[in-house]
Amino acid sequence: MAQLLITGGAGFIGSHTALVLLEAGHNLVVLDNFSNSAPEALRRVQELAGPEAAQRLTVVEGDIRSAADLDRTFAAAPGDQPVAAVIHFAGLKAVGESVREPLRYWDVNLAGSRQLLAAMQAHGCRTLVFSSSATLYGYPEVVPIPETAPIQPINPYGHSKAAVEQLLDDLAASEPGWRIARLRYFNPVGAHPSGRIGEDPSGVPNNLFPFVSQVAVGRRAELQVFGGDWPTPDGSGIRDYIHVMDLAEGHRAALDVLLAEPPQLLTLNLGSGEGHSVLDVVRAFEAASGRPVPFQIVARRDGDAASTVADPRLAAERLGWRTRRGLADMCRDGWCWQQANPHGYGH
Ligand code: NAD
Ligand code: UFG
Repeated sequence: MAQLLITGGAGFIGSHTALVLLEAGHNLVVLDNFSNSAPEALRRVQELAGPEAAQRLTVVEGDIRSAADLDRTFAAAPGDQPVAAVIHFAGLKAVGESVREPLRYWDVNLAGSRQLLAAMQAHGCRTLVFSSSATLYGYPEVVPIPETAPIQPINPYGHSKAAVEQLLDDLAASEPGWRIARLRYFNPVGAHPSGRIGEDPSGVPNNLFPFVSQVAVGRRAELQVFGGDWPTPDGSGIRDYIHVMDLAEGHRAALDVLLAEPPQLLTLNLGSGEGHSVLDVVRAFEAASGRPVPFQIVARRDGDAASTVADPRLAAERLGWRTRRGLADMCRDGWCWQQANPHGYGH
């Protein structure tokens, strides 16, 4: 059992991971400015974890770019148990928005990470799990994509993640003792099976899964399928969807390895290794929900690749972790969340 600091812990991936870590017996301090989430998510994490575990979660409202907020967060850990590790989810993640507002993306994602790392150094904590992304691979040359594939992001969001990965390289090389896992997520979707916590995008969803579930629940009329002429078996784009609970368990496994092994810098894909097309997702969601998902095939979206699928073997080898949930589980749990919370947390 360790004292952990989670930035962005109220968000989609952070909230599910916080639950898994509370259930594993850890003490958590979450720092979040709620710019893309609601405090209600953490209240529900506490409810799901039960009364004993709920007391092991402390919430600090603040910004990763603020040294004072970070000091306050480190100080929120009980005095006899300094922060053993940080899991850093806080960041901005919308590709299109990053093209329009690059300064904001570099500020939150890079400057925010730098500020956090400086605070970690000041507080003597050198263990970090960082949310990286398969977006780093750009248009991949080899699919399934190994971690050794070239880093060639194609938008400001991806550039900012690549810059943080570089910064972590430099930091690990600068002094011994850092234990760092850079986890490159593929396409996280779904929700906790209770339907109490899930993904709550604001406005029109950019991503396929929340869009499909909003069509199924009747909030939107139809899905636009971006491209029917990709070089894939059914002509629609292929991605490696990963259930958010599998992803949360991947964080727990990475943390266990970092805390148990000598200092190291780990770089791992977190994906299933299986690709599904947009039309596969539509059909699976219709089956899970019993609702039609009308769609229209339109032009390709700028910046999309035909197919991105993880080579997940290194994570299996290093973490002893692999995904356990398939597309039907992702749709069932995502639908359960969507149906019970048609307007998300209502924030
Ligand atoms: P999310 O937006 O749901 O969660 C991010 C959280 O960080 C939110 O609670 C938000 O309020 C908080 N936050 C943002 N800026 C902050 C700041 N300056 N200070 C404090 N808190 C701040 O996103 P998510 O899907 O849970 O993603 C988590 C991380 O994983 C992000 O870094 C994202 O880039 C990365 N990632 C996500 C995906 C994906 O498809 N969801 C894929 C690859 C990587
Ligand atoms: N798609 C549609 N219609 C939509 C939305 C998406 O057809 O309304 C298609 C896309 O063209 C693509 C697939 O569905 O073929 C998945 O698209 P998403 O937007 O859900 O996901 P991406 O793979 O484009 O990107 C996501 C995140 C990135 C992250 C990447 C890899 O948005 O931030 O996964 O982790 F980097």
